[in-house]
Order: sequence, then C-alpha cells, then structure tokens
Amino acid sequence: MEKKNIDWANLGFNYIKTDKRYVSHYKDGAWDEGALIEDGNVVISESAGVLQYAQTCFEGLKAYTTADGRIVTFRPDLNAERMEASAKRLEMPAFPRDRFLDAVRQVVKANAAYVPPYGSGATLYIRPFMFGSDAVIGVQPSAEYQFRVFCTPVGPYFKGGAKPITIRVSDFDRAAPNGTGHIKAGLNYAMSLHAIMDAHRQGFDENMYLDPGTRTKVEETGGANFLFVTKDGKVVTPKSSSILPSVTRRSLIYVAEKYLGLAVEEREVFFDEVKDFAECGLCGTAAVISPVGKIVDHGKEICFPTGMEKMGPTVQKLYDTLTGIQMGRIEAPEGWIYEIQ
Ligand code: PLP
Ligand code: COI
Repeated sequence: MEKKNIDWANLGFNYIKTDKRYVSHYKDGAWDEGALIEDGNVVISESAGVLQYAQTCFEGLKAYTTADGRIVTFRPDLNAERMEASAKRLEMPAFPRDRFLDAVRQVVKANAAYVPPYGSGATLYIRPFMFGSDAVIGVQPSAEYQFRVFCTPVGPYFKGGAKPITIRVSDFDRAAPNGTGHIKAGLNYAMSLHAIMDAHRQGFDENMYLDPGTRTKVEETGGANFLFVTKDGKVVTPKSSSILPSVTRRSLIYVAEKYLGLAVEEREVFFDEVKDFAECGLCGTAAVISPVGKIVDHGKEICFPTGMEKMGPTVQKLYDTLTGIQMGRIEAPEGWIYEIQ
C-alpha cells in the first residue's frame, strides 16, 4: 500500500481529512449496523442535543507503524471502556465495546495510507465521538445519536516537540467537585478554551488546574495528567475524582514499576509540594510525555532542576519505554497492543 505524500516530520497537531470514517446511528432504542463513509460533514437538526446542550463525548487514541511494519493501536479497550462511562454520565446510550474496537479497526485499515511510517515522528490520531443528534428544546437527553470515528495524522501536541514547556497555575477551574472532570465530555474542553487562550496570550503553553473544591491540590492540565519525580527517583501522580483517568498515565505507572523498577505513588499532591520535585511531565495520548520545565504561580516561578532544554532522566526513561512498547521495539504486556488486520 502506497503512503500519502505528506511531510510527516513536520506535521503539527492539526486536522487533515482522511479518506474514510465510520458512522453508526442510534434510533428507536438501537444502534444500526454502522458503515464506513466518505463524507466528512455531519448534517443534523439546528436544535440537536449536541448543539443546544453540549450532549457529546469523545475519545482519543493513536495508531502506530511498528519497527517491523505492522500497524497497531495501544490499549483501545480502555478507550472503549472510558467512552462507555462518559456516555452513561451524559445519559447517552453506550456504544458496545466490541463494536467500538471494530469501528477503530475499520477506520485505521481504510486509512492505512495515512498511518505515518515508522521513525517519522508522526502517528495517526483516532477520534471516536458521540453526540445527541435529534431536536430537543427542553433540557433533556436526545432520543437519537451518532457514534463516529475519524482519524488524522499528527505530529507533536506541543510546538517544539520534546522541549520542556512552561505552564501557569490557572485561576479558572476545568471541572466541578462532583461534575464531569472524570469523563471525556466535550463540555470540559469548552470550559477550558478561555483559560488556554488566556494562558497563551500571557506566554504560557498550558494551565495547571488545581482541585476545584479547595484549590490546594494539583489536578491536571486541559489535555493531560501530571507525573512528578521526587529527588530520590519515586514517581508521583495525582489522584483525584475530578481528573480524567488517563490511559497513558495508567500505562506509565505499570511501566515505571514493572519495567523500570521504580516506586510509584498515586495520591493527592498538594501544590505546596511541587517545588520539591526533581522532574515534571504531562502525559496523555496527544501529549505522550511532555516535559515541564517551569511552573508559574501568579508570578512566582518553580523551575525544575532539569531545565528548559531537555527531558529529565526519569521522564526520558518512561518516554523511551512507553514509545518503545507502542512502536514494537520493546515487548508489550499481554493485551496492550492490537494489531490492525
Ligand atoms: N486529561 C485530559 C483532560 C485529557 O483530555 C486527556 C486526553 O485524552 C488526558 C488527560 C490523557 O488521557 P489519555 O492518556 O487516555 O489520552
Ligand atoms: C488526547 O490526548 O487524546 C486528548 O484528547 C487531548 C486533547 C487533544 C483534547
């Protein structure tokens, strides 16, 4: 199969239309059999639940070309499971997990020419999503839905790739204490748009959100969980009921313990402790592991000893091992890699 003529090495994290996408419609209490289609546009009622009351959730995962030329995805079962949780919290009908996996497989296979070659630095980002599509005007769930999957080749999420970024402590919250921070609801991202634009206007790459209840504990950023490394080499990652349970973070905890022999603590992390950590990174499908060099709290700077030029040694080891597993250079734990056939 011939690859598309794309400058893989210089891709950013942007939408590029690919050839095929998957759609299944929910109507009269059931999902139809679903199909691959070519049209990337969606036509729905002006009063659709998604347009009026933001009834939508999504997922994000990637396909990789391995060193030996296979195309694989990484733990898509966890995305299927998380999407089910998101759908339930938003009063949407869950799309069956086995069908989610099959839809992802079909979309990647149909767009194999867009899966970046091994070693190019790019990957294929896969976006499953669901939304209420029929007209509602009272505040209520839709009766009809679409489940869709499209994909797009992407490069690094943060400009500069693996260079450490600078983030600020945000005065805005991304989630409420008993809200929707733990699911992948579109509304969480709408909440973060003003905060991220404001951060960019002030020269920061991202926001660090604190817990919305007490504003004393570290939560996450707009699109990734935090990882810290202590001076004695322990990995620490925040635990909270209002952050997204990142597939990447859960995988890195395993990698740290089982592959690298590091101690890991998943616990509440107070902002006051952050100045004492040796390394900091953001982890997620899009972010992979992006090193953080500096955190600014209302003018007060926390500069990690790893500096602004390169990743710290432990974050680098985590990055190398995780991407090694994803690209087939390092043997994966049972069930982590799904080959697209
Ligand atoms: N946190 C938020 C708010 C996200 O949007 C994402 C991205 O999906 C993550 C964390 C990382 O999650 P994952 O590793 O499952 O991609
Ligand atoms: C992801 O990492 O998949 C995300 O969803 C983060 C961002 C692109 C929203």
